[in-house]
Amino acid sequence: MHGQWSSRLAFILAVAGSAVGLGNIWKFPYIAGQNGGGAFVLVYLACVFLVGLPIMMSEVLLGRRGRRNPMSTMRILGEEEAGQPQWQLVGLGGLIASFLILSYYSVIGGWTLHYILLSAQDSFANADAALVNELFDGLVGSVGKLALWHSVFMGLTAGVVARGVEQGLESAVRFMVPALVLIMLALLGYAINSGDFERGLHFLFDPDFSKLTPTAILIAMGQAFFSLSVGMGAVMAYGAYLPQDESIIKTSIAVVSTDTAIALLAGLVIFPIVFANGLDPAEGPGLVFHTLPLALGQMPGGALVGTAFFILLAFAGLTSAISLLEPVVAWLVERRGMRRGAAGLLAGTGVWLLGWLTIVSFNVAADVKLLRGTFFDNIDFLTSNIMLPLGGFFVTVFAGWVMCANSSADELDPSAGIVYRTWRLLARYVVPVAVTLVFLNAIGLFD
Ligand code: PHE
Repeated sequence: MHGQWSSRLAFILAVAGSAVGLGNIWKFPYIAGQNGGGAFVLVYLACVFLVGLPIMMSEVLLGRRGRRNPMSTMRILGEEEAGQPQWQLVGLGGLIASFLILSYYSVIGGWTLHYILLSAQDSFANADAALVNELFDGLVGSVGKLALWHSVFMGLTAGVVARGVEQGLESAVRFMVPALVLIMLALLGYAINSGDFERGLHFLFDPDFSKLTPTAILIAMGQAFFSLSVGMGAVMAYGAYLPQDESIIKTSIAVVSTDTAIALLAGLVIFPIVFANGLDPAEGPGLVFHTLPLALGQMPGGALVGTAFFILLAFAGLTSAISLLEPVVAWLVERRGMRRGAAGLLAGTGVWLLGWLTIVSFNVAADVKLLRGTFFDNIDFLTSNIMLPLGGFFVTVFAGWVMCANSSADELDPSAGIVYRTWRLLARYVVPVAVTLVFLNAIGLFD
């Protein structure tokens, strides 16, 4: 059945590889920008540590106990703990969410691939806002380019998953995360020297609560789920490979801190550049692709730094994408008896087809606006802000209320110390209440 990670570090690396991705560098800055900065960031941080962290611990513990794909794990544990196999529906919801997320994630992953080429060709040299705009519009305005890069990104993802996650992933992530942080520190140096660092800092950390709408709170919570990869079973699937004697608590804290540090670092790099160049912090999904090329075009060695940066970003996206496809493929293999290769091909093709909805959202169907906006906006809102929080809600309710304390203590901390008791308090009360309140607030119940 399932293999095992070679060590705790390997597991941390895999979960960190899932968590650190486009969500930190592409998504966090642009939605922080759209939602007014400071106050949004504060809510985001609260959600990460009070809601996301306990959910991550719950997912790992359920995954390790069930040792299967998320859907089977929820079914088996549901039966074992309460005679309720229908808990598998939580796993099913997660599979659907991961499928939907990957469909747009792969398109954006494709953008990073295109930007590797642009950097390598030194296209950003002495760039001004107009040139950067032109380059970005040239990409997202072209169905052909988007489709090409989406296909490459999806092909890479499915290819890796089809061959089995254990090989290669560990060493890739071990190198990637530190290298990514290093390059971002170099970019931070540029932002401090040449950007409007003070204004960027002020925007990110000086909370103006009048900007905090109920929807912004929901989006901040959704982003915490998205960035940590919790609420859809990715972490549960990886937890299935965790050796019994490793500490779930320590690994979860390590991953959550790393992920959060990288998101904040991205914000610290991007907003000073935004303000120094008179750009709009609320411009949307193109934000990183409009700001970083400006910096890269002006700094010495920018072509090289940029190429390395976008390669690493693509890598970070790829390890996240792998974790989105893995649960679906594991399910097809374990429950439908498919071969891994065939399962990877089938799931990859399905996701690829769905990705077309996102491709056209940036050009020919940009004016098709339903509920929340374009197809892309809707898929993103539905998954990040509704499906992931719901999934996380049920996972923690299961781990905190349905599972008996002996089972959860056994996995987390047999001595049932203070950390275990804090987790249980958060899992039983704080997470369910917080998610419920944020939902009710967003649908206008407290207006
Ligand atoms: N956490 C990833 C990122 O920040 C995206 C992701 C979401 C991956 C959900 C897996 C599950 O880019």
